[in-house]
Amino acid sequence: MRVLVTGGAGFVGSNFVRHLLRNASEIEVINLDKLTYAGNADNLLDVSADSRYRFVLGDIADARIVDSILQAGVDSVVNLAAETHVDRSILDSAPFLHTNVLGTQVLLESARRHNIRRFIHVSSDEIYGSVQKGEFRGEDATLAPSSPYAASKAAGDHLVSAYARTYGLPCLILRPSNNYGPRQFPEKFIPLVIANALDGKPLPIYGDGLHERDWMHVEDFCAALLCALRMPEALGVYNISANNPMVNLNLAGEILRILGKPTSLVRHVADRLGHDRRYAMDSSSFRRDLGWEPKIPFEEGLRSTVKWYEANAQFLERTRTAEYCRFYERNYGHRIIVSHVKASRSAPED
Ligand code: NAD
Ligand code: TYD
Repeated sequence: MRVLVTGGAGFVGSNFVRHLLRNASEIEVINLDKLTYAGNADNLLDVSADSRYRFVLGDIADARIVDSILQAGVDSVVNLAAETHVDRSILDSAPFLHTNVLGTQVLLESARRHNIRRFIHVSSDEIYGSVQKGEFRGEDATLAPSSPYAASKAAGDHLVSAYARTYGLPCLILRPSNNYGPRQFPEKFIPLVIANALDGKPLPIYGDGLHERDWMHVEDFCAALLCALRMPEALGVYNISANNPMVNLNLAGEILRILGKPTSLVRHVADRLGHDRRYAMDSSSFRRDLGWEPKIPFEEGLRSTVKWYEANAQFLERTRTAEYCRFYERNYGHRIIVSHVKASRSAPED
């Protein structure tokens, strides 16, 4: 089976390509990636010579490139390419509409014309918006995106559903919760906290730090994606989560504890605009229909993730480019430090 993975040089994509090459000998992978600031060719250096793997540099919104790949024979598409960082979408939403909306439409249109067996679109829990304590969103909940990022992802989902309904394109939409693990770009919370803590730099915690995310190890999500790829009758929409909710302040505290760094590194800074308080999804349908269960306990996954960044210092060095420093200054430079407050109970006292 030949699979086109888009965005394969990014965080989830590079872990997924490696997961496929290791665990699915029946699958050949074509990776189409534009190598934006978030794409890193080094992420797949160790598999670049594998005869079942091919890399194509290009934009998913470029119909000529997408057509030429699908024309050559592809069974399934797994669309992971996206602009993904909420804070960047607040600074400039244009690239988000280009890739997450127009790019998705170009892929769908080409998939339809080339009779692709299945189109798997990776969405996000963020499209449901903030969820009150005690509530969980099922797949049929109303979409209520808060950020331009989430709005562009919701638009992508609507397009996929429309292509399934109008043209009968066999589509599957997967909505995972926050992933963590090796090779995540250090603009995202977990690698940013690890990177800053390793350097002894302040950890910027937005607002009161009591915003909650539901964390899933990227290997568990890759296993879920492979499960979905192997089950062609799975169509429609599925939520995927590992049920590991944690508030940001406690998560930062856990990371400081693992690294043996002081809680005095925690800084409460001005909040993110439109910041969603909590994400929480019901993923029981995916578990029931596809027989998937997450395998990596959060404590173990977080510890191994922290150790990975500690052991792969060159990853953090190479990703923190001049562009990264400019973004960091734009995003954090204006944020007033609200207070220096200690992190959670679990972090060491100074
Ligand atoms: P990422 O930002 O790490 O990687 C995105 C990749 O897409 C990069 O390699 C980039 O070069 C590529 N890309 C961007 N625009 C492109 C374009 N126009 N054409 C081709 N390639 C392009 O993102 P990620 O964290 O790996 O997320 C992958 C997918 O999973 C996204 O769709 C995201 O919305 C979704 N998702 C991620 C998480 C998470 O916690 N990481 C959670 C829920 C959903
Ligand atoms: P992030 O990794 O950007 O993912 P999400 O798409 O879920 O927002 O952020 C995770 C949480 O961490 C979110 O509540 C925002 C918060 N956060 C901070 O407090 N400080 C930071 O510097 C960043 C990047 C995020």
